[in-house]
Amino acid sequence: MRSDPALTAMDHSAAAIHTARLHRLTEKGLRAADITDDGIDWDTGIKKPAWLRMQYVRTAVSQLYFGEIATITMCERLLRELDDDNAIRFVRTQIADEQRHVGYYERYLARAGGIEEICEGVAMAYDRALTWRGSYHGAIVAFHIVLEGEGLRLQQLYGDWFPCPLFKQMNTLIARDEGRHVAFGKIFLRRQLQTLALEERIAIYQWVRKLWFDCAGPIQADMPGIVFRAVGRSWAETRWRRQREALIDIGLVLPHETAQFDRC
Ligand SMILES: [Fe+2]
Ligand SMILES: [Fe+2]
Repeated sequence: MRSDPALTAMDHSAAAIHTARLHRLTEKGLRAADITDDGIDWDTGIKKPAWLRMQYVRTAVSQLYFGEIATITMCERLLRELDDDNAIRFVRTQIADEQRHVGYYERYLARAGGIEEICEGVAMAYDRALTWRGSYHGAIVAFHIVLEGEGLRLQQLYGDWFPCPLFKQMNTLIARDEGRHVAFGKIFLRRQLQTLALEERIAIYQWVRKLWFDCAGPIQADMPGIVFRAVGRSWAETRWRRQREALIDIGLVLPHETAQFDRC
């Protein structure tokens, strides 16, 4: 069969754009790792509204801390399984980012009185995400798109509910890195998922959807009343609709497929 020269040129062009995007993200990660003075003024101390108990601050920030540790474990798995050098280089910068975040949260929590236990729903979410036994695409969907995407939003919400200047300084730096991790997941998966069999794409979608709804209940049950009311009773369903849009956007599923598989 004769090859189509126009298609080949387009393929090369798409591959070059893909590589350049991953390269730019990696360069940003390397620059972030090189910064010796991050500018955080740790003497600022923790400030919180009178109504908010310090134990809740510790519990909420501790969940972000455990998320960082689980993400490092997932990235180490990716380094063993990925066969794309550009992705491997990026993931190495991500591990350095997450280790820096662990350090920030440890330092913050030490000032707040220590690390609290991981909540049941959060532990279940990360355990499930780490035990995916299919291809690495499933792990990237779960961590980079669903869990890191939600983590980024939660950090922003905490910033709104909890106007602590020290948390804000730390959060600004972490959110910048997390935005880069989510961007990597989207760029990498948009190209990789095109080559994945329909059955595997659907298996990942159904798995991550089940993970979401199985864990949402226990996570919501652990929210203090004021937070529960702020996010609303239909939080899990509402947020899943946003997650589903992101999964359609990266090409994991088509809209009509979600209509079919959301009923399963
Ligand atoms: Fe992180
Ligand atoms: Fe991250």
